Amino acid sequence: MNERSMFAFLVYLSFIVSLASLTPIDSSVSLVASSSAQSESGSLRNTDASTLSHAKIYKIEITSSITNRFSRTSVVSRVRNVANTAQEITFSVVIPDTAFISGFVMEINGKNYTADVKEKDQAAHIYKQAVASGLAAAHVTTRNSNDFTVSVNVEPEAKAVFYLTYEELLKRKNGKYEQIINIYPKQPVEDLNVEVIISESKKITDLKTPPIRSGNEIINDNLELDPRADLEVINETTAIVKFSPNLERQKQIAHLLGTNEKEGFAGQFVVQYDVERDPKGGEVFVQDGYFVHFFAPSDLEPLPKHIVFVLDRSASMQGQKIEQLIDSMLKILDELHENDLFSIITFSSYVTVLNLDNMDSNTLYPSIAKKIDGYCAWSLTDMHYDSLNKYKFPKAYLANKENIDKAKDIVRRVGASGGTDILSALSVGLHLIKLEKGTKHDNIDRQSIIMFLSDGDPTIRITYTEDIATRITKLNAGPEKTPIFTLSFGEDADRKFLQKLAFDNSGFLRHIYEAADASLQLQDFYQQISSPLLTNVAFKYEPSVTSLTKTQFPIHFDGSELVVAGWYGTQDTFKPAVDGHGIHGSTEFEPTVYHVVSHTERLWAYITIKQLLENENAIYDSKIRKKAIDLALKYSFVTPVSSLVVVKPNDTVVFDTDTLQGTLEHITQMPIVRTTPFCSELYPIPTEKPDLLTELPWINDILEDNGIINVSKGKYKLGLNETLAESEDCPKTPFNTPGKCRLLHSCSTVFSQLTSASDLDTHFCVLKNEFAGICCPETD
Ligand SMILES: *[C@@H]1O[C@H](CO)[C@@H](O)[C@H](O)[C@H]1NC(C)=O
Ligand SMILES: *[C@@H]1O[C@H](CO)[C@@H](O)[C@H](O)[C@H]1NC(C)=O
Ligand SMILES: *[C@@H]1O[C@H](CO)[C@@H](O)[C@H](O)[C@H]1NC(C)=O
Ligand SMILES: *[C@@H]1O[C@H](CO)[C@@H](O)[C@H](O)[C@H]1NC(C)=O
Ligand SMILES: *[C@@H]1O[C@H](CO)[C@@H](O)[C@H](O)[C@H]1NC(C)=O
Repeated sequence: MNERSMFAFLVYLSFIVSLASLTPIDSSVSLVASSSAQSESGSLRNTDASTLSHAKIYKIEITSSITNRFSRTSVVSRVRNVANTAQEITFSVVIPDTAFISGFVMEINGKNYTADVKEKDQAAHIYKQAVASGLAAAHVTTRNSNDFTVSVNVEPEAKAVFYLTYEELLKRKNGKYEQIINIYPKQPVEDLNVEVIISESKKITDLKTPPIRSGNEIINDNLELDPRADLEVINETTAIVKFSPNLERQKQIAHLLGTNEKEGFAGQFVVQYDVERDPKGGEVFVQDGYFVHFFAPSDLEPLPKHIVFVLDRSASMQGQKIEQLIDSMLKILDELHENDLFSIITFSSYVTVLNLDNMDSNTLYPSIAKKIDGYCAWSLTDMHYDSLNKYKFPKAYLANKENIDKAKDIVRRVGASGGTDILSALSVGLHLIKLEKGTKHDNIDRQSIIMFLSDGDPTIRITYTEDIATRITKLNAGPEKTPIFTLSFGEDADRKFLQKLAFDNSGFLRHIYEAADASLQLQDFYQQISSPLLTNVAFKYEPSVTSLTKTQFPIHFDGSELVVAGWYGTQDTFKPAVDGHGIHGSTEFEPTVYHVVSHTERLWAYITIKQLLENENAIYDSKIRKKAIDLALKYSFVTPVSSLVVVKPNDTVVFDTDTLQGTLEHITQMPIVRTTPFCSELYPIPTEKPDLLTELPWINDILEDNGIINVSKGKYKLGLNETLAESEDCPKTPFNTPGKCRLLHSCSTVFSQLTSASDLDTHFCVLKNEFAGICCPETD
């Protein structure tokens, strides 16, 4: 190896977002291809567009082939060094965060240098050796974490061509697939061509190319930005979309998007479509023993839901963010379905529950909070989350016009201040769901959903995020787990924590970019989860199949799609089926099987690796890791466990590095528990005997002389002057938990749940053969 001519060369890939990407982080999910030269010597020189033009990109071709929603995109950028000295030319692409790079080739002076996908550890070893030899002066640029950047030294007048390929499964969202191609060459390009070839097995519907987006908004309705793409429909299942803006149009678009015309096109070209559905069970595509099952039933009625919005209003939300949040909530409230129930919790250092029964109590500042009508929790400074039963909470409200109008009135007045008590906020959220499930006042089964939004780290009470995630997941355990969807708002939000929280609780994370359209992003997200169609969806295949990806999904939303892949081998009979629980009870769906020519095996590998890595243990569990590595190497996917290695001109080894450390490192921080005054200190929970007749006025109706009540079981003493030490176990408290039988006056915890004599009857128990008792939760 010629050591002197060896120069540093680095493929820099950051995988934090690859990990985060397992959840759909959306709008900047895009591809940016750019190329520029950096002067080697000129540390004082500006790197504005004029000096960058030494590297002239004369042609960019982006080709995306989508076969049954699996897309393979290749970016080819041709660059010439027009300076009279050697230049370092940088090629940079932002990889969509759901995609895996699957190929990279550099053509320099007519010679190809092809990258190989290698096991991460092996690549790191090569890297260390090079560093140790003092020869590799790493050229690392800190960039957006999903940037792919490569630099290469190119002689005067010489050409370099970069070929990059990445693959991804298009996700169906709000009823459409969206292929986003972000073009950002930083200079006008004479020959700029984008071609998207869609070839599906089912009929293509709603093929569209919406206006060019800047990449910072999810929707752009400026018609002047219509890409004027060429949509060529070959037949029902095949279409080609071509987009070739000339120099003039590139400048025009730059101008319309508010970017520098000299830098040329800087935006996202988007293609949207959907496919026709088999009414039931979805489509199973089979090929060479592999199958991929797409399930997106379209003709189901949505399940009614109880949605709990848990919204951060800490000080960092002040200004535009809180306004955007309010703006989006006002619109989201309008979109609730008639049979839905909703609860709104806002939190900062304390937790507030929207109370429509007493509008005056919705004061949002603790300093002026008062105890009204016995409600405490609407302004809870702190609490024992395991004894939330002690507090009286506003109920969940039906989404009728009157309630929505009242709720909007309160939401409009939400202000931002204080710290961030995430644990309390989520505990109250789960508690409200439990209360609603316990009462089910109109006998409708509802799917519960938590939509949790935060813009920062927890700062109050428990701030150790692992601890919060564990506690909330534990509180939410059981067969009726509530999916928690988390929204990280802005760059300061702890995405890793919010992702874990969502993942452990059957939800997913969505990042909300801090931008002018944040409110739209929030509404867009809400739409995705607004219509649950099925719960407990289970995919079954007979006879047995192997290498299956995930087959159980807690919930399926309208507009989305569930995908399962596996290997059925050479069996003649292959019988897939899907079970799910919908509005009319349990249903079995029968999918249709199609034999296709597709990339079924690759897609199977892609989904399998994604799901292996989704599991946070993938990083630590050597078996899971090994499986992921083997697949990544076999199918040549660059993933968090594999790397790109390129042998480049003059035998220099090109390798990669990444910032996985950020993801790997164990959190060693110990829990910090800050104590703030307990709710009970602010609003003492009565220790003296409550005045039963005031707290439970309906008792008057069944009360006879001498403190005796007449219930369905007979006549029993209220025992107002008694204190009974021992009590018997009883099966069901008003909170649906087992408990101990206690005198009514010694169980004020349940008063909020006892709204009539029949509530008492349901949980009634007898003490010492003569006293009226209630099944009471065991506290502390
Ligand atoms: C280099 O590789 C690319 C992509 O695979 C190919 O299109 C091109 O023809 C190759 N060039 C040479 C000189 O082999
Ligand atoms: C549609 O056209 C493609 C490409 O020409 C072809 O492969 C496919 O078989 C055609 N499909 C139908 C349904 O005609
Ligand atoms: C590679 O080596 C050749 C011959 O040794 C030399 O002329 C050329 O400049 C080197 N190229 C680079 C990019 O260093
Ligand atoms: C107890 O109440 C029931 C129903 O209200 C009533 O029918 C019954 O007569 C009452 N029993 C006595 C002993 O008053
Ligand atoms: C309970 O005690 C108070 C005062 O000690 C007494 O006035 C009242 O009559 C007693 N009630 C019963 C039901 O024994």
